[in-house]
Amino acid sequence: MCGIVGYLGPRDPKDVLIGGLKSLEYRGYDSAGIAILHRGEFKRIRAEGKLLNLENKVKNEEFDGHLGIGHTRWATHGPPSERNAHPHCVGGVSLVHNGIIENYSELREELGRGGAVFSSDTDSELVAHLLASETKSGRPLFEAVLAVLPRLRGAYSILAVSQEEPNVMVAFKNGPPLVVGKGHHEVVIASDVQALLPYTKDVVYLHDHEVLVVKGEEFKLTAPDGKPLPIKTVHINWSPEQAEKCGYPHFMLKEIFEQPRAVAAAMAPHIDLALKAVKLQRVGFGASSVEDLATLKADQDWAATQRVLSETERVFIVACGTSFYAGMIGEYLLERLAGVPVEVDIASEFRYRHPVLPPKSLLIVISQSGETADTLAALRMAKGSGTKVLSICNVKSSSIDREADGHLYMNAGVEIGVASTKALVATIALLNILALAMGQERRQLKAAEVKDFLEALQAAPSQMETVLAYNQWFSEAAATLKKHKGFLYMGRGVSFPVAMEGALKLKELAYMHAEGYAAGEMKHGPLALIDDRMAVVMLAPQDDLQEKTISNLEEVKARGGKIIAVGTGEDPKLRRLSEHYVALPEAPWTVNPLLEVIPVQLLAYHVASSLGHDVDQPRNLAKSVTVE
Ligand code: G6P
Repeated sequence: MCGIVGYLGPRDPKDVLIGGLKSLEYRGYDSAGIAILHRGEFKRIRAEGKLLNLENKVKNEEFDGHLGIGHTRWATHGPPSERNAHPHCVGGVSLVHNGIIENYSELREELGRGGAVFSSDTDSELVAHLLASETKSGRPLFEAVLAVLPRLRGAYSILAVSQEEPNVMVAFKNGPPLVVGKGHHEVVIASDVQALLPYTKDVVYLHDHEVLVVKGEEFKLTAPDGKPLPIKTVHINWSPEQAEKCGYPHFMLKEIFEQPRAVAAAMAPHIDLALKAVKLQRVGFGASSVEDLATLKADQDWAATQRVLSETERVFIVACGTSFYAGMIGEYLLERLAGVPVEVDIASEFRYRHPVLPPKSLLIVISQSGETADTLAALRMAKGSGTKVLSICNVKSSSIDREADGHLYMNAGVEIGVASTKALVATIALLNILALAMGQERRQLKAAEVKDFLEALQAAPSQMETVLAYNQWFSEAAATLKKHKGFLYMGRGVSFPVAMEGALKLKELAYMHAEGYAAGEMKHGPLALIDDRMAVVMLAPQDDLQEKTISNLEEVKARGGKIIAVGTGEDPKLRRLSEHYVALPEAPWTVNPLLEVIPVQLLAYHVASSLGHDVDQPRNLAKSVTVE
């Protein structure tokens, strides 16, 4: 994780760096820092905690130089503290780093034996030491970087500057993302294109093992041996996304309320309104790069997609965190609507378990950020063995989006809250659409069935609006709910992944013990947890499994558990059994997850905020996990 930004140009670097760090803070908020040339030396200012602390510290500072680097940190080596904050400055070299140096201990020992004195506990500082020992004999920074790279192991990206070369920045990517762009007589480097968009829309994404050398207003790319590499500029046709709370107390609550719109925006491009059928738009199987999508002939592209959908014999879905739970819902949808066998895996398991990927398999990777390290590694592994990859991403031109063969977009708009919300519902909508498209192409579904499912899906956004009305109730109930010793979330079928998601949300936001379980597993352990201090959130919307779930509820009730039931409409049985009852609008099983996820999000949000937690930036977490 961590966010990197660098600036060389006529503006005040302080403003560019702080502005850039604001758009990168989702990558980590343990500490932040900047180093800017001032009177020929780097003046470094760092602060523990959120970026705001750094902003307060630098607001009256002045710098006369035009070169600077900045960093926002998610701690790997060494606790969050000012001492461990980046940039690290050694012997005139300043450096920021994102990732992990795996051979950190041996390098640190070696440098220590040579007399190096460390002023932090980080793996990053030793790269600054290595560079400084190369530059002290007068070696240019670029050559120093080339000399040091072979000594480093791990997945890492670095950006280095030297006070001896006030016109130069050198960066290297091996894993975490880096992107560079030229503005008006200026160059900006960052971990995310959002930080560049105020200055330029023509950007260059670095590939792994590329060295970037900026000199004045120009830059070039080389291989680690110094050989020049071609530069491919990409034009970004979107504007910097505004991160405004629009009157909501937190981004997360705003994003929960944006979910109906996110669902509509995700599915809209793929519905043929006249035919009431599915027609996936510009997925790009067969296109040479993601940049070509806009110019593809829609019918030709749809024909290529239809081939993939009908020829696929097995689907693998791989993701992390909330995106993984979306993938679990996808398994139910694709198996039942399209009749295709599906395996769902957590990316960090999939990549190391030597999965067997038969020919005619399709790997679906789901990632809001498009940068999650394990998901990206899984994609690369599958591509390496010849498997076609379809990505479902929110961030366009992210690493996962660029490397996949086919592309579906969440279109959820920027998601700031670290705990994912609208990206999840957008993905569930897309997986519905994909399952219908596959069912349609493989003749598993009749045209009339596709039409019915589509109509229900199109009604989902307005139904979600009605569920959002429970916001007030959860905000009032939070004071009581937070007193429980723990929460057990249960459901069957597509409600099971929603139960897992509900437990995850409560853990990450309220820091309370919560577990998600398949309701049918209750008697195999979790029942032992139940007493009158345990809350049980039972997801029991009307579907073909509801009766079984209600039997589970009786068993919880008999043992004194405090039940919050989520069901469909006026359901006397559920009302009788539960302490609190949340009534969802009537919908088919395919749409239920879009509705039942809202109460579990609201519950976690309000319990966490009533406990006084920072729900947008929960402790120890980051939005984009670019290290494994
Ligand atoms: C982190 C975030 C989660 C997110 C997960 C996967 O853990 O805090 O909200 O679901 O990463 O991220 P991705 O960007 O791959 O969907």
